[in-house]
Amino acid sequence: MTRNQTTARPFPQTTEFGDLLRQIRRRASMTQTDLAAAVAYSVSFISSLEKGDRLPDVAAVAQRFVPALALQDEPALAARLVAAAASARGASPPRAITYTQTTTLTIEEVDGPESAQLPAAPTATIGREREIDLICRRMAGHEGRLLTLLGPPGVGKTRLALEVAHRLAPLYADGARFVELAPVENAEQVSAALVLALGLEPGREEALPQLVASLRRKEVLLVLDNLEHVLGCASCIKTLLDECAHLRIIATARERLHLRGEQRFKVAPLEQAAAVTLFGECAAAGEPDFAVTSANRPAVEAICRALDCLPLAIELCAAHVSVLDPAALLARLHDRRLDMLRNGPGDLPLRHHTLANAIHRSYVLLTPDEQNLLNRLAIFGGGFDAGAVQHLGFGAAALRALVSKHLVRRTTPNDAPPRYGLLETIRAYALDRLALAGDEAGCTPPTCPVLPATRRENRGDAGRAWRHRSGAPRHRV
Ligand SMILES: Nc1ncnc2c1ncn2[C@@H]1O[C@H](COP(=O)(O)OP(=O)(O)OP(=O)(O)O)[C@@H](O)[C@H]1O
Ligand SMILES: [Mg+2]
Repeated sequence: MTRNQTTARPFPQTTEFGDLLRQIRRRASMTQTDLAAAVAYSVSFISSLEKGDRLPDVAAVAQRFVPALALQDEPALAARLVAAAASARGASPPRAITYTQTTTLTIEEVDGPESAQLPAAPTATIGREREIDLICRRMAGHEGRLLTLLGPPGVGKTRLALEVAHRLAPLYADGARFVELAPVENAEQVSAALVLALGLEPGREEALPQLVASLRRKEVLLVLDNLEHVLGCASCIKTLLDECAHLRIIATARERLHLRGEQRFKVAPLEQAAAVTLFGECAAAGEPDFAVTSANRPAVEAICRALDCLPLAIELCAAHVSVLDPAALLARLHDRRLDMLRNGPGDLPLRHHTLANAIHRSYVLLTPDEQNLLNRLAIFGGGFDAGAVQHLGFGAAALRALVSKHLVRRTTPNDAPPRYGLLETIRAYALDRLALAGDEAGCTPPTCPVLPATRRENRGDAGRAWRHRSGAPRHRV
């Protein structure tokens, strides 16, 4: 069940097939790689189509691109894309378009056995209607059978995957199953965990062949949740997809699986309005008299902004409302951010008891070089560019790794010069690690590196941050 929030979708204006395709793809939050995976073409072919270097196949556009781009419910735009394809070939548009599979995704509540096998969300899901709609339409009716939800710790990947699974379960003959992989210790144990989660008898035979035999004839959606620490199981996932033609998988991870045919969906933090609603609901769960009012709304909005609208951070922070009002909470957040992001509801999983725990789970998966770079990047409060990274003595590969692991994010659009930044919660964690590393090495506090004049915009608040940290408790997790 979700609450409100719909976002108007801009309608592309161009009539050129390549331009129209690019605009619709971007609007569907897909990369060229995602679209290629969804329609079973190569990435270079998609790129040539968008540049106008190759001519589209009109039937393929109607039958594969339209569902892959989630245009099933937008017949006017679907018809425009097909007409643009026909016109690029100098042909007239077909009179009727038939989709290989059409899907109505308006099911709100599902009581069937398919969704009974999924865990219920502990609270109402706030916002996310647009994302749920997009992911559902991307999963339904196209060739790509693996979609990975990616994003930083606590952004809401698991919650989104669960909502989508509830929504899609009735579309598959054998429903949907949710497999929580966070407790699994290594990649080798993943197939055994799947055997157990699917109710098969463990230990009778090798786990992977047993899974293949069980899933081969099933039409089922598997949600493989929290895979980031067992990415080595990608080969097992590939075997399952290769051998089981009707299997679909939604994975959640902080980093992609790097499989061919994998589509990705980047989960962003909540929109501001949804974040405020979430804060209000979480605060009221602990303090029934609490409500967001015109008096406390500015402070609540400022809290949500300070937490980058990250759901887990909001949930943890709102739990303090029973002892601090929003204005006092906001003041504490400025200098003791991570202290305010702990001790949330008791039924949260252990890794979500503190935000530092959640981030630490990603941090330990980094190489020492990447950890070192992340710590140092935290001094750039105003963001930074690749030159600043070089200035710190690190190469582009380390920066790329942090971006792909969703600990650093690009803050400029694709067509602007790239600049990067850290979510404030991740930055607070990294500043703590930097201070700890300084303590352990017995070295002097870090200062903002001396940058060439053209790099002034990278300057951060290193000194201020250090002074804060040196006066604040350190977070060992
Ligand atoms: N849209 C939402 N509405 C209500 N609660 C939400 C929403 N999104 C996330 N939450 C809550 O925020 C917390 C973090 O969400 P979730 O576990 O989905 O994040 P995640 O990205 O999967 O984190 P991790 O990277 O640690 O696996 C959870 O307690 C979840 O229930
Ligand atoms: Mg998760």
